[in-house]
This record gives sequence, structure tokens and C-alpha cells, in this order.
Amino acid sequence: MTVTTETKDAMASVRPIRVSIVSPTYNERGNVGELARRLDAVLGATGWEVIFVDDDSPDGTAALVHEMGRADPRVRCLHRVGRRGLSSAVVEGALAASGDLVVVIDADLQHDETIIPKMLVHFDDAAVDLVVGSRHVEGGGLGEWGAARVGISQFATVLAKFVLKADISDPMSGFFAFRRDLMVEALPNLSSIGFKILLDMITSVNRRLTVREVGYVFRNRIEGESKLDNKVIWDFLMLLADKSVGRYIPVRFLSFSAVGTVGLVVHFAVLTLMFKLMGLPFFWGQTAATFVAMTTNFLMNNELTYSDRKLRGRAMLKGWASFVAACSIGAVANVGVAEFLYAGDAEWALSALAGIVVGTVWNYVATAWFTWGR
Ligand code: GDD
Ligand code: MN
Repeated sequence: MTVTTETKDAMASVRPIRVSIVSPTYNERGNVGELARRLDAVLGATGWEVIFVDDDSPDGTAALVHEMGRADPRVRCLHRVGRRGLSSAVVEGALAASGDLVVVIDADLQHDETIIPKMLVHFDDAAVDLVVGSRHVEGGGLGEWGAARVGISQFATVLAKFVLKADISDPMSGFFAFRRDLMVEALPNLSSIGFKILLDMITSVNRRLTVREVGYVFRNRIEGESKLDNKVIWDFLMLLADKSVGRYIPVRFLSFSAVGTVGLVVHFAVLTLMFKLMGLPFFWGQTAATFVAMTTNFLMNNELTYSDRKLRGRAMLKGWASFVAACSIGAVANVGVAEFLYAGDAEWALSALAGIVVGTVWNYVATAWFTWGR
């Protein structure tokens, strides 16, 4: 292709990209246009781009961002299909960024974009790795949060500080800026679980980071609604578990085992109801309890342990069937191992425990492969 004077001129008018804004979206159709306008207002002179990382939102956010991108190439869309997750969206957005600096910001206008220039100035100091938009330093605030959310946030912050190597006031923030290289450095150790990507990044590098903080007041959401529900608490605990013991035990296995423990409670509840209260034969009580517990275990694991590849609709039926089949083999292994050890003169409780461990590991490996594998 020959480069005409016209394309040369066009290229000269394009500013080299220095800053990439990464904004995760799920059903943010009502906000992406306004955010892009506001970014232009605060960053106008700096070369910038914005990458909206959309998880195939039902409201058509991705299509709207693509349309915006046709009019203004600084607006890009990373459209992910069949995946969910705030943290992983941010990771992939940062890897797709062209700028040396990356700013992560929510798309719903709750983060105050007017502090971005203040955040960027800090990078003039070559030693600075990370700048966090903080609600807990001067100029910062939680805005109109209810007492309950303030309490939960404070408690989570205290927990987070246990796994943290850097001293920062707001490790739970979703608004922060860093050199793109930092993401590449953190990548091999990232958990990418849930939504606390800042915490994840900080704990995934093997050195003390130089961090600066800029205060901002958390705004109220006007358009759309929050996606964070009770499940984020579970994800948060799993992230902390991964950061503390993840080197030794896969965190999915921990989640799977926790679900299994709840399953025991379900099993005994059903058994007590049918055998003790309704007077049905023990065999039938036991059979029913096993099926009910397998089903609730399947649903809980689908929701919690495998939320990132959750089975939906018809795929759930097939998933449930393979889960029941795998766990039935696990039950046979459990009883078999316990029986074998007990017959060989091992302590009865230890024999039972060994059976449970073998059965659980089998169930985990088999369902990871057959039920939630691809
Ligand atoms: N791609 C993608 N995938 N984006 C998502 C997903 C997802 O599964 N879930 C949420 N988002 C996007 C939302 O569209 C929004 O732009 C942003 O992530 C934050 O989600 P909200 O649902 O608005 O979260 P919030 O306002 O309750 O939580 C905020 O406060 C936390 C601090 O307490 C967020 O800023 C968090 O990042 C922050 O840590
Ligand atoms: Mn929000």
C-alpha cells in the first residue's frame, strides 16, 4: 500500500497513546458514552484511549462501544463471550492496552475521573509503580454509603491488610493507575478471582511497591445497577485464601471442600426428616439424602466454585448428570478405602477420614474434568 499525503496528514494528527483507560463493563449501556466524553474533557491534551472490557452484556453495551469506536478510534471494545469476572476483565484489558500507563476505572461514573491527571503526574517520578484512588486519605470519602456497607468495607480492608505487602489506605479500591509493565510482572502469580484486582496485583509481585494515593469521593450510581452481590464476599475470601495458602492447595479445591461440608449438613437434615421424623426405611432415607445433597452440592459449586464458567440452561442438566455419576464413583471409593483400612486394623475414625479424603479428591478432579471442563 502506498502512503498518500492524505494518510500521512491523518496520522500526524493522531496523538501517540500514552495512557490507556481500562473500564470493565456489564450492562453499562447508559454510562459508557458519558464516561468517554468525560475522559476526553479531562485528558484532552494527553494521548489516550479507553478500552471497555465487556462480558457480552445483555443490554448491548459492546455493540454501543463498537459504534462509538467507529466515530472515535480512541474508544475500543474488548468483547468477551462466555466469561464473567471483573478482575479477569481488567487483566485482559491491561494486556490489550497500548499506553505505557494504565488507569482502571469503573464505567458507572462512581469513580471521580477528574483526579486522573493528578494520578498521572505521580508517574513523573520513575520510582512510582502504582497510584491508588483512595477513599481513605485527604480529599477522599465514601459518599452516601449506608452503615452496613461502610462496616463490611472496613472489615474487608482489615482482612486485606493481612495479605498486603504495601501500606495503602484503600486496598479495596477499584480505581487505580500503574505502569503497564507491572501487570506483566504480576501476571504469573495472579489469582484473577472475583473483583479485587488491585489487591491481587499488589500481592502478586515479589517486591515492595512504591505507591502514591490520591483522594476521591465515591459517587452515587445514576444509571444501571451494581453487580456486586453476596457472592463477592465468597470470592473475596477465596482470593485471600489463594494468597495465603494457594501455593499449597488449589483454592478451587478449598471452595469445593467447603461446599462438600455444607452438603453433609444437607444430607443429615434430609436423612433425619425421612428416617427419624417420617419413619421411612433407613435405606430410602439414605438414598434420598444422597441425591438431594449431590444436587445442592452441584448447584453450590456451579454458583461459587465455578462461577467463572457457570453452566446455564440445558447445559445444567448434563452437568448435573455427570456430577452425580462422578460423585457416585467417589462414594464407592470412599466406602471402599475406609473398609480396606478398617479391615487392616486401622482406627475406625481414621479409616473413615481417609475414605472421605480420597472420595473428595476424586470428586474434585473428576468433576473439574467432566462437569466444568471444556
Ligand atoms: N467485564 C465485567 N465483568 N465487568 C463487570 C463485571 C463482570 O463480571 N461485574 C461488574 N463489572 C463492572 C461494572 O459494569 C462496573 O463498571 C464495575 O465493574 C464495578 O461494578 P459495580 O457493580 O458497579 O460495583 P460496585 O459499585 O458495587 O463496587 C465498586 O466498589 C468497590 C469498592 O467497595 C467497584 O468500584 C469495585 O471495583 C470497588 O472495589
Ligand atoms: Mn459501581
